[in-house]
Amino acid sequence: MPKPFVGIDFGTTNSSVARTLPEGGVELARFAAGESLTESYRSLLYLELVEDGRAKRVKSWTGPAGIEQYLAAETKGRLIQSLKSFLSARSLQSTEVFGRRMRLEDLISRILRDLRESAGKQFGIDLRAAVVGRPVRFVGAETEEDNAFAEQRLRDSLLHAGFETVKFELEPVAAAHYYESTLDHDELILIGDFGGGTSDFSLLHVGPGILRRGRMPTDFLGNSGLGLAGDAFDAKLVRHLVSPELGRGSEAESLGKVLPAVPNWVYAKLERWHHLSFLRTSAVMTMLRSTLATAYEPAKIEALMHLVNEDLGYHLHRAVQRVKCDLSAHPQATFRFSDGGFEIEAVVTRAEFDEWIAEELARIEGCVDGLLAQAGVDPGDVDMVFLTGGSSFVPAVRRIFETRFGARRIRTGDEFTSVAQGLACKAAEG
Ligand SMILES: Nc1ncnc2c1ncn2[C@@H]1O[C@H](COP(=O)(O)OP(=O)(O)OP(=O)(O)O)[C@@H](O)[C@H]1O
Ligand SMILES: [Mg+2]
Repeated sequence: MPKPFVGIDFGTTNSSVARTLPEGGVELARFAAGESLTESYRSLLYLELVEDGRAKRVKSWTGPAGIEQYLAAETKGRLIQSLKSFLSARSLQSTEVFGRRMRLEDLISRILRDLRESAGKQFGIDLRAAVVGRPVRFVGAETEEDNAFAEQRLRDSLLHAGFETVKFELEPVAAAHYYESTLDHDELILIGDFGGGTSDFSLLHVGPGILRRGRMPTDFLGNSGLGLAGDAFDAKLVRHLVSPELGRGSEAESLGKVLPAVPNWVYAKLERWHHLSFLRTSAVMTMLRSTLATAYEPAKIEALMHLVNEDLGYHLHRAVQRVKCDLSAHPQATFRFSDGGFEIEAVVTRAEFDEWIAEELARIEGCVDGLLAQAGVDPGDVDMVFLTGGSSFVPAVRRIFETRFGARRIRTGDEFTSVAQGLACKAAEG
């Protein structure tokens, strides 16, 4: 039997793995998640310090097993989400976990190793070669050097996880390959892939005719990308619904002066999933403790300390996901978060949410219009727009395309797995 070609989409929030089938088409790996199976594996890492004989060592779990272990733990270890968003950050070479230095590549490779081993077992192969997705612009990347630096780190993480041959393909181009596999004619398409960390766009000609004659460089009209997506929307939900309840905007009196009780950078970290669990340091806890005595609203600071100390980022993420998904389906939703000493319940309308993310939406619009202008393509010339990725469910995101192209020219689908499937198709093409 010929060896399958494998595509790996290591996403900010979810990852998936696909392979080509000998009879044609692709198949997704399915991962155990409690009693059920899932094709999209949460890209998270959970670490605990465990007794091992007389020594202590760090034990780690990823994906659904990480969530299970985290939820079952009486004393919470450290749950890290959205690790991909650190790849371009030169300042984050390594981090201290339970007093031990760990490199970012070591943390990311834990997730990649589990994906490799689990998918390899299902596919019946020793999985060592894959085409792997990367965003057009990594989160935080300001220059092409930053992008190259992030890609190199992702490559190192993959090699560290046991891969030997790695080729990269842009995630929106992979989504285009997936969409192409559904076509019986050629089209000029615009892809919009909205994930957790990044929003990516590609403008290209695809279709069976193009595959038959062989792809040409002129088929690719351009790519563009932004290092913001669902996590940035979540940040705004946390800022408006949660941070004020945890002391943002609250004051303290010290030496006759009235100052913010907690500096704003703490809330900036609280609002970003990849930073949240790193707030739990003794320096931050000492600072919060010292502000308690002088704060006008100490209960809010206590609630913040509780959230940081108990590593409640996962619960917060879940509460934010819920309200965001509800707002995609309904004009109004209720945000609920309750843990330990504090409880938040607030009604949010979709119009409010749209206003909170207006800046992000404007940047997305600018990126789409910029790509069309740069390629010299009029919106009227685009045959179809394919929107994918979890954040493409956000109605305000879809509206950007509906106003430019009309609802009839928009296709959606396989939001969480189109990139992995397209990567497998690309791997087969060589
Ligand atoms: N129904 C929904 N409404 C709004 N947002 C949603 C919905 N479902 C999922 N999301 C968001 O989609 C994002 C995850 O999408 P996806 O799995 O495509 O991203 P990813 O591939 O992990 O990230 P990236 O491509 O940026 O690396 C999260 O921010 C999640 O909150
Ligand atoms: Mg993605």
